[in-house]
Amino acid sequence: MSLQLGDIAPDFEADSTEGKIRFHDWIGGGWAVLFSHPKDFTPVCTTELGEVARLKPEFEKRGVKVIGLSVDPVSDHRKWAADIEETQGAALNFPLVGDPERKVSSLYDMIHPNANDTLTVRSVFVIGPDKKIKLTITYPASTGRNFDEVLRVIDSLQLTAKYQVATPVNWQRGDDVIIVPAVSDEDAKKKFPQGWKAVKPYLRIVKQPQ
Ligand code: BEZ
Repeated sequence: MSLQLGDIAPDFEADSTEGKIRFHDWIGGGWAVLFSHPKDFTPVCTTELGEVARLKPEFEKRGVKVIGLSVDPVSDHRKWAADIEETQGAALNFPLVGDPERKVSSLYDMIHPNANDTLTVRSVFVIGPDKKIKLTITYPASTGRNFDEVLRVIDSLQLTAKYQVATPVNWQRGDDVIIVPAVSDEDAKKKFPQGWKAVKPYLRIVKQPQ
């Protein structure tokens, strides 16, 4: 069965562009994003890696480490890194795991044989400080991911882990949020003393807690 939300992200040891990594130790006590690439020296992946390198400060602000994976060996990743810097104007500034034996790809079900039996799809795993999987996204090889969306979901995950709220459709950091149904109106008065707008008894809108 494939990995599901709430499962512990499998630990692994693998070679990367920043040396050998024991995944759980590398994550440490914070958040992490693990994302896969079908293959080195491919155009869409090249743009994605440049974008993640550019966005790294945004991930760091949120206490999130990023790590990529491609099924080619690290020696290829190192050569590819030069192309990424040259064409995207951003140097690889996070580890890229080499997975020529598909060990990590198999562990994380990143190979979907009916799509392609040797290359990974574009998987994204967001992992929390408890090492549990908080988000999975799967894109086909032909579609580059939207890493602003990954940051947006991380904002929601971090907010909703701290407060008893949920975020509505298309929510962005700073927008109003929703009081979760599990909180009674009586409890909500204590948790949200500034009050809320009840559009329906089950749809209670409140300012984003800070
Ligand atoms: C790409 O990254 O451009 C790519 C990789 C595999 C299949 C299609 C596109």
